[in-house]
Amino acid sequence: MPMEATIDIRITEADLAEALRTDVMTGLSGPRKWLPPKWFYDARGSKLFEAITDLPEYYPTRTERALLHACAQEIAVGASDATELIELGSGSSEKTGLLLRSFSAHGSLRSYVPLDVSESALRDAVGWINAEFPRIEVHGLVSDFTNGLDWLPRRGRRIVALLGGTLGNLVPAERAEFFGRLHNVLEPGEQLLLGVGLVTDPAVMVPAYDDAAGVTAEFNRNILHVLNNRLGANFEPSRFAHVAVWDPGNRWIEMRLEATADMTVTVADLDLMLEFAAGEQMRTEISAKFRLADFHAELAAAGLPAQRSWTDPAERFAVVLAGR
Ligand code: SAH
Ligand code: AVI
Repeated sequence: MPMEATIDIRITEADLAEALRTDVMTGLSGPRKWLPPKWFYDARGSKLFEAITDLPEYYPTRTERALLHACAQEIAVGASDATELIELGSGSSEKTGLLLRSFSAHGSLRSYVPLDVSESALRDAVGWINAEFPRIEVHGLVSDFTNGLDWLPRRGRRIVALLGGTLGNLVPAERAEFFGRLHNVLEPGEQLLLGVGLVTDPAVMVPAYDDAAGVTAEFNRNILHVLNNRLGANFEPSRFAHVAVWDPGNRWIEMRLEATADMTVTVADLDLMLEFAAGEQMRTEISAKFRLADFHAELAAAGLPAQRSWTDPAERFAVVLAGR
């Protein structure tokens, strides 16, 4: 018999709609429009992200998977005291299976806590992990990891993972706040496992965010469907063009949606009218890429020094084990 698996809803649909209202007011009422990327991920957005991970152009997932495959045993040995793995933005948890397999063989892991804003992705993940790892307790949390972390469970010695490059979706100020909160929340000896994209050739990075089949474009436009569904907005997603550019100064890929004509959009739940001029762009995501030495320095400055790092042969992605 598998161990019990639970799902705890810490953020309800009503909470999400409230948080989205605030973000729309902040991000879309000023002259330079933007939205936080966490709003891509309703059930459809999560499915579109999974489709992205299979695209020939989108190298991050398969690169990280190969890296985890190669180093999962070393990670499990390096974190062999951990009894609980908490994964922020766990999505499908697909690559985490590699870690759980190694932790089961080499460590003292007893429980896995996947956490995601996307309830549908979380339910699927909890189901398959529970079936495949019957001796590990699984406690899913529907929550937002940018809303503070002091409520994270503390049942034993923890390792907190943030894989897939999701850290790069935080702007630098949010990233600093995130590291500060992690530093406060972790006990000395607890650990952190991060998967981050590295700076590489723009000819490789840009197509990963602008694929030939248009799946990333559909993922980008999904944020407009979410605004329509959750806030009664009347965006016509097909009238917005997908834009992905490499910003070498900030070292991030920026995704934007560009209005293809002058438009007035209403957001019924906010009594808000938004004007878009033809050609106007709205930022929907940054995806920062790191230089490994800078990333180590950033972790050290946050009091979370790197203990070991692994990169793929082409140095496009890194997995970093850090400690408090
Ligand atoms: N870790 C997985 C999924 C990456 S996609 C992988 O490596 O493949 C990013 C995931 O983070 C999505 O499932 C999304 O729903 C979740 N996410 C994004 N912002 C979040 C936030 N602020 N709080 C919780 N989950 C978030
Ligand atoms: C989840 N996150 C790390 C992805 C990324 O690469 O920034 C989301 C994504 N955006 C476009 N394609 C994939």
